[in-house]
Amino acid sequence: MSSRTSETVDQPDAAQVVDSMERMGGGPYPGYRRSSAKGSCFVGTFTPTGEAAALTTAAHLQYQQVPVTVRFSNSEGNPHTPDAAPVTRGMATRFHLPDSTETDLLGITVPLFVASTPQEFLGLTEALRPDPTTGHPDPATVQAYVAAHPHLAPAVMQQPPVPVSYGSAAYWAIHAFIWADARGGRQPVRYRWEPESGRAVLTTEEAATRTADYLTEEFHERLRSGPVAFTLRVQLGEDGDPTHDPTTPWPDTRKELTAGRLELTAPVQDQEHWSGQRFDPTRITAGITLSDDPVLAFRAHAYAESFDRRSRRQRGGWSG
Ligand code: HEM
Repeated sequence: MSSRTSETVDQPDAAQVVDSMERMGGGPYPGYRRSSAKGSCFVGTFTPTGEAAALTTAAHLQYQQVPVTVRFSNSEGNPHTPDAAPVTRGMATRFHLPDSTETDLLGITVPLFVASTPQEFLGLTEALRPDPTTGHPDPATVQAYVAAHPHLAPAVMQQPPVPVSYGSAAYWAIHAFIWADARGGRQPVRYRWEPESGRAVLTTEEAATRTADYLTEEFHERLRSGPVAFTLRVQLGEDGDPTHDPTTPWPDTRKELTAGRLELTAPVQDQEHWSGQRFDPTRITAGITLSDDPVLAFRAHAYAESFDRRSRRQRGGWSG
């Protein structure tokens, strides 16, 4: 039996994984998310093109515009990491649907995830635990982990861009989801937000001149000149394309459609309220189902665990 198969069977529990994430990030940082601790929230609208309407009954992907709330973030669990650090960025979007329910879509600035299973993710976070003497992960331990799991190498080697702006990066939702149409037809999909102004990154020299909070400052400044827009691009999977593995991309030649256009117009009025919210990639709506990706299913438990830990601290009852 390959290590990949056996790791699928021995699923860790969410508390074990969140403990390991806290150690990896030098935390815990009470009151903060155990990943993507630093972020800021904005409001806007999502206008579907109707191109997806034949393939899914999802309310926000038909013809009616819906309000959205978006949280941009830096991936680190340490909320004090400066914005110019070469880490992935997150974009968590909540669509407020006409029937007063909600659905979330979370993306990051690289196309592949670093683990095929929760167990592999736990193994990697353990390998990345800082060495107490240097304060950094031991490169030999990380290399040994990747050598033992060679299918992870392309994802682990990805270099996240340091973007000019939260509004100049593409964000991949990574997992496959399954769309359902009105007649019960099923279509595997993968989502990606593309910035309408184009992708733009900083050179190392430019990044060195940016302030610790430049991404939020720049976004506020950008909004003063008008809305910041993204298009929702959707890759359509074909027979045989794997839906269970977030480390494996589908061929670039797969057909894509544009499901809609997001326009962010202003910061949320109450940042504290919104930073206290829990976005969840498994908060789907009728017309969308989860794929068989074990990482996607596991995330719901890890996010609930992180939410629980940070909320207990916010109520003042926890000292972790
Ligand atoms: C085993 C896999 C993963 C684990 C255990 C994990 C864990 C976490 C945790 C604990 C949080 C903080 C949740 C909270 O307190 O609200 C978080 C946030 C986040 N994660 Fe993951 N994650 C995983 C995979 C991914 C993947 C594949 C993506 C790519 C889309 C992703 C994108 C994000 C984003 C964008 C946030 C910030 C959400 C927000 O702004 O509230 N994560 N993750």
